[in-house]
Amino acid sequence: MKNAVTLEEINFKYNSNNKDWVLHNVNCGFPFGKYTVIIGHNGSGKSTLSKIVTGIIKPFSGNVFVGSTKISKTNLVKIRKNIGIVFQNPDNQFIGTTVKNDIIFGLENNCVPPSEMEGIIEKAAKKAGVFHLYERAPQLLSGGQKQKVAIAGILALKNDIIIFDEATSMLDPRGKRDIKQIMIELGKEKNKTIISITHDMEEVINADHVLVMDKGKVLMEGTPAEIFSHAETLRKVGLDTPLTYTISEYLSKFDKSFKPTIFFKEFIKQCQ
Ligand SMILES: Nc1ncnc2c1ncn2[C@@H]1O[C@H](COP(=O)(O)OP(=O)(O)O)[C@@H](O)[C@H]1O
Ligand SMILES: [Mg+2]
Repeated sequence: MKNAVTLEEINFKYNSNNKDWVLHNVNCGFPFGKYTVIIGHNGSGKSTLSKIVTGIIKPFSGNVFVGSTKISKTNLVKIRKNIGIVFQNPDNQFIGTTVKNDIIFGLENNCVPPSEMEGIIEKAAKKAGVFHLYERAPQLLSGGQKQKVAIAGILALKNDIIIFDEATSMLDPRGKRDIKQIMIELGKEKNKTIISITHDMEEVINADHVLVMDKGKVLMEGTPAEIFSHAETLRKVGLDTPLTYTISEYLSKFDKSFKPTIFFKEFIKQCQ
């Protein structure tokens, strides 16, 4: 499978005096046109990894490839234009005085002709469920509303690679479900590569590809079925399994012929 982004031997720390690496010998790939989910406990390096992918921070050593192009000083700005990111904390992302202006600002940055803006913004705002907030000041919205506005802004940009860094953490269950559906739909679009950092194990079921981070390293990489066939390893690093998997493990205690991993593999097929 072709990768939209490949990380090769990445090492990174925020302070060069620190003994420990924040990312250590990270090798991984984000398949082109697919939906990848990154899981891992707090502080395992997920957000740092996403900032390396977008070129916001530069690795101490190692290479980042977008497609087959190695990111360098000379092509960084151009390549970054095609990678969108919604941060964990939406407050860091607003520039406009109203929701609408904020989305316009992003489009202006990407040189979208003004005559096309209205249609693009309306579509993105409706999709993210913030059209009714159009004239409101983003700074005065609730956390969940802010996250939806940030998502609308990214949808409007139509980047080929979009990273959602815990972008639904402040949303209510319904809002989470709606945004998850948007990510799934985007992931099904042929040319869109979606990367979602999440603590929601149920989201993993819908992913094409999963990356498990632990202490700055990639602990596992594979399909959801492959990842959850190592349930014990996940639990050792403080991660849960989806409810369906947990129930199927429980059932296997009563019926020894019932294999949770085989059942779960079939279940994932049904979900996708
Ligand atoms: N701007 C920063 N300056 C210094 N240390 C940081 C900074 N951002 C993150 N870290 C540290 O890097 C490690 C990984 O953080 P992060 O990538 O945010 O993890 P995650 O997103 O998995 O919770 C943590 O130990 C965190 O404290
Ligand atoms: Mg994070």
